[in-house]
Amino acid sequence: MKVTVVGAGSVGATCADNIARAALCEELVLLDIKEGLAEGKAMDMMQTAALLNFDTRITGSTNDYAKTKDSKVVIVTSGIPRKPGMTREELIGINAGIVKTVTRNILEYSPNAIIIIISNPMDTMTYLALKSSGVPKNQIFGMGGTLDSSRFKYYLSQALSASPNDIQGIVIGGHGDKTMIPLTRLATYQGTPVSHYADAETLKKVAADTMVGGATLTGLIGTSAWYAPGASGADLVKAIVRDEKRLIPCSVYLEGEYGQKDICIGVPVIVGKSGWEKIVDFQLNDEEKALFSKSADAVRNMNSVLATL
Ligand code: 2OP
Repeated sequence: MKVTVVGAGSVGATCADNIARAALCEELVLLDIKEGLAEGKAMDMMQTAALLNFDTRITGSTNDYAKTKDSKVVIVTSGIPRKPGMTREELIGINAGIVKTVTRNILEYSPNAIIIIISNPMDTMTYLALKSSGVPKNQIFGMGGTLDSSRFKYYLSQALSASPNDIQGIVIGGHGDKTMIPLTRLATYQGTPVSHYADAETLKKVAADTMVGGATLTGLIGTSAWYAPGASGADLVKAIVRDEKRLIPCSVYLEGEYGQKDICIGVPVIVGKSGWEKIVDFQLNDEEKALFSKSADAVRNMNSVLATL
């Protein structure tokens, strides 16, 4: 089976590295427009195979989509990352053109590929990829909620002095500093509500830190983060190629679910071999419903910019 990662920058390369280490496919193609970058990173990773004991064959390609032919899954990380002080939304002008072209090229060689969008602004880029390609809705989805939930679990684990592996927590809504919704009410420490272990003030701070998790890292590193975004992309690839049917929050096209339609936004979905397979209704309370509707308004507002480009 073949998997392709488009974009050999830090997020794409980290995603590819995680896919290879976990031996999720036999063939892995890393593609970039910058001459030699994908070839070089693919070769560097292949030189870890004997050390790390994986047998995935990684190939680099400078914009030759023929090499991606018959990919089962394609992860799109192309586009410019944000700089300190920038929002994900400010990237729309440049990234929209890139994501549209990349999606078209992928589908030319792999019409049935399941496409995972990581490029920002992620919800709008997912919507654009879906609308511009016309493929079935379950074939394209955005990665944000996977990453945001992992960050939520990290901050919860810090607040509770617990292992992140013992924490359950989900973030829905848009993948933006002001649009994501950490579902604190439903978060648990080994099945018991986190509110048993931390006061309301602490949990409020956990949610706030989660929402600006990406911006905090951009401020520290000077560019967008890559370890957790790359690992999140690889986690989705695993759920697809192993047909895990796991419940993961992803940005998917809504047709009335969660009270929204004609929008891609983060909701809990089942991920398996057909892509995202169904939406799970978490029965939000009134406060969460109001936050979701506000988040959808902001994402829809961003989508409307697409018409002006
Ligand atoms: C982040 O939140 C890359 O959007 C990504 O770090």
